Amino acid sequence: MRLLKPPFVLLFAASLLFTACMHDVINDPNAAKTDTTFIVAPPIGGAGSSPLASDTVCFNTEILPLYSSYCGSAGCHDISSHKEGVILTDYSRIMKGIKAKQPNNSAYFTIIGHGMPPKNSPQLTTTHIATIKKWIEQGALNTQCANVCDTTVFTYTGAVQTIISNNCGGCHGSKPGTANIYLGDYASTKAYITSNTTLFLNSINYKASTASKNMPQSGKMVACKITQIEKWIKNGYPQ
Ligand code: HEC
Repeated sequence: MRLLKPPFVLLFAASLLFTACMHDVINDPNAAKTDTTFIVAPPIGGAGSSPLASDTVCFNTEILPLYSSYCGSAGCHDISSHKEGVILTDYSRIMKGIKAKQPNNSAYFTIIGHGMPPKNSPQLTTTHIATIKKWIEQGALNTQCANVCDTTVFTYTGAVQTIISNNCGGCHGSKPGTANIYLGDYASTKAYITSNTTLFLNSINYKASTASKNMPQSGKMVACKITQIEKWIKNGYPQ
């Protein structure tokens, strides 16, 4: 899968990232086949959930949303095509720039904060970066977790902030936000949802009027995270 020697890998991976943002979709027919999927059985503690039942980082719920969201961010993201999202929205393509257990040799990791995401786009937080690093150190496996949250927790700081930051932040995390929707802080998120409740709920439940308005566009969030957001709304947006 990763046959090229390091300098080439770095250059190649870096060029993939930049050209992916600025030009068109990388549609590589030789892309590595999706590796074995690891189903992680017990509830997994991720940011915003408690308590930690396992230390395993979930690729589907923690890593994929970060790459999908922050790489398809403002300035890179093309509303009509959403081509850019494609390259970093599946495991095998992300793995082209990741070396298992070697974060420092993983171009798609080391470039974060050093050119990626572009300067004027929302940046990954130190928590996001630490999560990606941990995932790589754990072997960069295609871990798939379904039951990842404690749905009795649905405050903004306890759950919702992290869910939105991870899944929406790359596009709606800095002002004015893609499609002029800014979800980067408590007051703005509450205000937006209050005025657009049905539209918002339809978009996260993948029932939007047009497919491109289903959010996040890279794939529906796991059910328990949607539940946490819904409970937050129903209960009057607890802080
Ligand atoms: C990769 C970028 C990206 C990410 C990540 C993203 N959005 Fe969006 N969002 C868009 C774009 C682009 C539009 C405009 C879509 C259109 O008009 O077809 C949009 C529109 C919306 C809309 C308006 C939909 C409508 O019917 O008008 C809502 C609500 C929304 N996003 C919420 C979210 C939420 C919540 C998340 C995270 C769970 C999220 N978005 C993640 C890019 C993104």
